[in-house]
Formats: sequence, structure tokens, C-alpha cells
Amino acid sequence: MFRTGGLDVMVRTMQIWGLTGNIACGKSAAESMLRELGLPVIDADQVARQVVEPGTEGLAEVVAAFGPGVLAGDRLDRAALGAIVFSDPEQRKQLEAITHPRIATAIAHQVMHFANEGHEVVIVSAALMVESGSYRDYAGMAVVTCPPEQQLKRLLARDPLSAEDAQRRIASQMPQDQKAAHAQVVLDNSGDLEHLRAQVQAFHDQHLHRP
Ligand SMILES: Nc1ncnc2c1ncn2[C@@H]1O[C@H](COP(=O)(O)OP(=O)(O)O)[C@@H](O)[C@H]1O
Ligand SMILES: [Mg+2]
Repeated sequence: MFRTGGLDVMVRTMQIWGLTGNIACGKSAAESMLRELGLPVIDADQVARQVVEPGTEGLAEVVAAFGPGVLAGDRLDRAALGAIVFSDPEQRKQLEAITHPRIATAIAHQVMHFANEGHEVVIVSAALMVESGSYRDYAGMAVVTCPPEQQLKRLLARDPLSAEDAQRRIASQMPQDQKAAHAQVVLDNSGDLEHLRAQVQAFHDQHLHRP
């Protein structure tokens, strides 16, 4: 998995905080709130899409490994690739061997960019930070949680998935309480967005703000 460890030598004054949480628990919602507070946030999901955009070396390698069936025109057909890798751990590893080093490099570049801009804190948001162990590289980690039935409702409202597929995706992830056990901060997203915002503000005030 992508690691940004080692960067501490290059950007000595910069603190990197991790933000994680399972699918549809509210990472992106928390990210927008952190950005509104002036913090730079790097979304690993977004970076993961960028490294396989049309014309990238990353996409060329994915096509070389999995065949032209994973393309729709010049773009990656995520559903086709997902059908291959979600059911086969070996294929998934092969995909990760292509994408993860590229994601790590792109994140490291963005961290350096924000350090050069004078930021002292940057947030890296990623779904699999605990699974990969990459959270250990960071100054601390916040996890966004919400009750599973709410998670399912939010996931179904956001993505065109069947209830069965949505359930399967939720069940395939590490239980939220295990993630929370590793976190310095838990952002409980069981209420409305204002409820989340108040917690993001407290997280900012206690951990991210240097007067
Ligand atoms: N507190 C909340 N109340 C209502 N809807 C929410 C809340 N938090 C998130 N959502 C919605 O639920 C969906 C999942 O949230 P999102 O931030 O995209 O999750 P993640 O990035 O963790 O997958 C989105 O459509 C989002 O707008
Ligand atoms: Mg998101």
C-alpha cells in the first residue's frame, strides 16, 4: 500500500494526518469541511483515479496486464476491472503492484507541493489506511464512523449499486471499531452534516491548528 514514510526527512516541519473510514461513512464530507477550514487534503481515491487516466503509463500497464477488455474507449472501465479483481485476490495484488507505487509517488509530490506553499499540516484521506499500515507513518489518524444501516442507506443513495452489492462491499471491509481502535480521533457521523462539522472543527482546533 502507499506509504509516505521517509518524507519526514524532506519536509521536517510538516505534519501529515491520516483520515480514514469505511465506504460511505463520510470521508469526503469530512474532507470538504477540512478544506473549508483552510487545510490541504489529499484524497487517495482521487489520486488512484488520476494514475490510470487516459494516456497515463499506469493505464497502459493495467491494459497490458488485464487485456483490452478493461477499456471503454480510451478510458478505464472500472466495472470491468472490478469484476476481475474483486473476485480474485491474486489479480487484485497484480493491480495493486501497478497502481500503489504510482499512488505513493503522486501523494508524496502533493505533500511536498503543500509544504512548499508553507502549510504545516496536510491531511491524507484513504479508505485502507489501517489495513495497509500506512497510518503508522502519520502524526495521527482520524476515522469517520457511522452505524452500518446508515452506511448502507448513504451508499445506496450515492452509488448505482444493488442492495446486495452494497451489503457485500460494506461487509468486505475491516470492522469500523477495529479502525477506531487505532485512531487518535473518532469523527462520529451518525447525525446530520452539522453534527459532523462540529466534530471536524474540534479535531482541527485540538490537533491541526498551530497558533
Ligand atoms: N451526516 C450526513 N448526513 C447526510 N448525508 C451524509 C452525511 N455524511 C455523508 N453523507 C452522504 O453520504 C454519502 C457518503 O458520504 P461520503 O462522504 O461520500 O463517504 P466516503 O467518502 O467515506 O465514501 C454521500 O452522498 C454524502 O453526501
Ligand atoms: Mg469519498
